[in-house]
Amino acid sequence: MKKDILIRVCMGPAGIAAGGKDILDEFKRIFHEKKIKASVGKKCSSHQVGCMGLCASDVLVDIVIDGIKTVYQHVKPDMVEKIVEDHIIGGKPVHRWMADEILVDFNKKQMKIVLSDCGKVDPEDIESYICADGYASARKVFSSMKPEDVINEIKLSGLRGRGGAGFPTGLKWELARKAQADTKYIICNADEGDPGAFMDRAVIEGNPHSVVEGMIITAYAVGSEKGYVYIRAEYPLAVERLRLAVKQAEDKGFLGKRIFNSDKNFNIVIKLGAGAFVCGEETALIASIEGQRGMPRSKPPFPVNKGLWEKPTVINNVETLANIPYIIKKGHAWYSSYGTEKSKGTKVFALTGKIKNTGLIEVPMGITLREIIYDIGGGLDEGKNLKAVQTGGPSGGCIPASMLDIKFDYESLAQAGSIVGSGGMIVLDNDDCMVNIAEYFTRFTQSESCGKCVPCRIGTKRLLEILEKITTGNGEEGDIEKLEELSEYIKKTSLCGLGQTAPNPVLSTIKYFRNEYEAHIREKKCPAKVCKHLLIYAIHKDICTGCGACKRVCPQEAIVGDHKFPHRIEHIKCIKCGACYDICRLNAVGRS
Ligand SMILES: Cc1cc2nc3c(=O)[nH]c(=O)nc-3n(C[C@H](O)[C@H](O)[C@H](O)COP(=O)(O)O)c2cc1C
Ligand code: SF4
Ligand code: SF4
Repeated sequence: MKKDILIRVCMGPAGIAAGGKDILDEFKRIFHEKKIKASVGKKCSSHQVGCMGLCASDVLVDIVIDGIKTVYQHVKPDMVEKIVEDHIIGGKPVHRWMADEILVDFNKKQMKIVLSDCGKVDPEDIESYICADGYASARKVFSSMKPEDVINEIKLSGLRGRGGAGFPTGLKWELARKAQADTKYIICNADEGDPGAFMDRAVIEGNPHSVVEGMIITAYAVGSEKGYVYIRAEYPLAVERLRLAVKQAEDKGFLGKRIFNSDKNFNIVIKLGAGAFVCGEETALIASIEGQRGMPRSKPPFPVNKGLWEKPTVINNVETLANIPYIIKKGHAWYSSYGTEKSKGTKVFALTGKIKNTGLIEVPMGITLREIIYDIGGGLDEGKNLKAVQTGGPSGGCIPASMLDIKFDYESLAQAGSIVGSGGMIVLDNDDCMVNIAEYFTRFTQSESCGKCVPCRIGTKRLLEILEKITTGNGEEGDIEKLEELSEYIKKTSLCGLGQTAPNPVLSTIKYFRNEYEAHIREKKCPAKVCKHLLIYAIHKDICTGCGACKRVCPQEAIVGDHKFPHRIEHIKCIKCGACYDICRLNAVGRS
């Protein structure tokens, strides 16, 4: 066989969870058994890649024969032999298993910069990244650019920090470069604690060298010899791949002493975080690296002037850093040709919730929510209606379906009462209760509050108590106004971004879904039928055949009735667990 054959198996977490490793092994086993040999060793190989984006279709497998790529979805080990027989040996792809059509739609409106090599390069092999032009930008910077040129290039590109606040990256670097000090540090913020967000993890798992290269270039620009990656310990695969990437870069002379044959030294230390959301806040993160309890402090001084060990420190997010090699390689004009006037380039999002194509996407800034949900995400399941999109995690808010044509950029989202944030995007439908969503995020921020300042520590607790009162059917007139007033105080007086943004989910849901709050308070009803204390279960006697299925699953023995006669629920005993509702195949159990 004189073909160039490349098999890529998705080994992002979703790919691994769906059995990617077994599939990789199966390809290797069958290749060995059928003596499918490479004309050039490297090309007839199977290798692992990071997340390919369309997690909903995992395990995804790319078959590239003589440069022509076919993608299979939902691959199981017992499908591998047929793919090898029919496609690789016989030349006839197995059409019914192909994902090409769905991928065309999924990718049509995407623009991949940060993710351009994710799903293509082997994250555990530096050579694979180098083959894709990796480290060429760092080499270029060291050989032909002054630090000021690099900073200027990033400033002109318009890149804004992707960790949430959107601060201009080039400006941050310039401030750090100008700061007078014998030592300067750079930190990659890979804490990523927002519920629903997995972009940074996916970038590190899929292409860790792009982050390492971004850090090398940052260090050169600001004049730093030591960098840290602060990454949460709950990301074991990302940590493992990052460690390997650092080691491989050291072995190549890209990290360590006199890197790229220059007179510059640069080392990277990986520091594991214990998974506290507040440790993503830059001053808390610095305290955590210094070995203190991860609590924020007031700013100024900003870390660029007084950061780690009181030295000037640049903190950048994973995605921000992963953009850098591509901007250097292709130039600021190319980068800034994407996006809007004030929000340049692209943004990676973790698209989750009630949407068909869940996964990892990268889109040009300024794309509309409608395009993301329907053109890329494939819309919602049949019969389901979009209610809202939650963006920005606990610091963000909910944008109602009526505002679907809103542009996705920093300014437009802020105007709508939400934020771009780090990139979590959760699609909600009519089965989601907006009061419950507000309660969920408030519970998160309340439990993650470090407790240093009163407005956040006590204020979020009080917010949560009022929300719980409403969702358990004890809400009173005036509660909505109390929530609004308290939220404004918390926003204005909290010490750090956690408290300053914690009320956003509450305020945005009140702004757009006040009627749902009112239904909970006035009618003691949850329109989405989510808040369990407000639900009433009843058995329709005309439909019930007395099969007893509900009676058997009721943990409270709340259902009575003789076999083959209509049953009924004794409400006093019912704890509203919903087991009877779920089990009844005749839909005889009603929920209102
Ligand atoms: C409570 C809280 C959590 C944060 N978590 C993260 C995080 O996980 N990752 C991140 O990059 N930035 C996070 N940030 C923002 C950082 O403080 C900081 O602005 C960012 O890392 C700067 O990098 P950038 O300019 O590249 O965005 C968080 C901020 C707050 C207030
Ligand atoms: S706002 Fe909250 S998280 Fe931030 S310092 Fe105050 S108590 Fe801590
Ligand atoms: S909701 Fe749960 S407790 Fe109530 S009747 Fe049904 S099964 Fe029993």
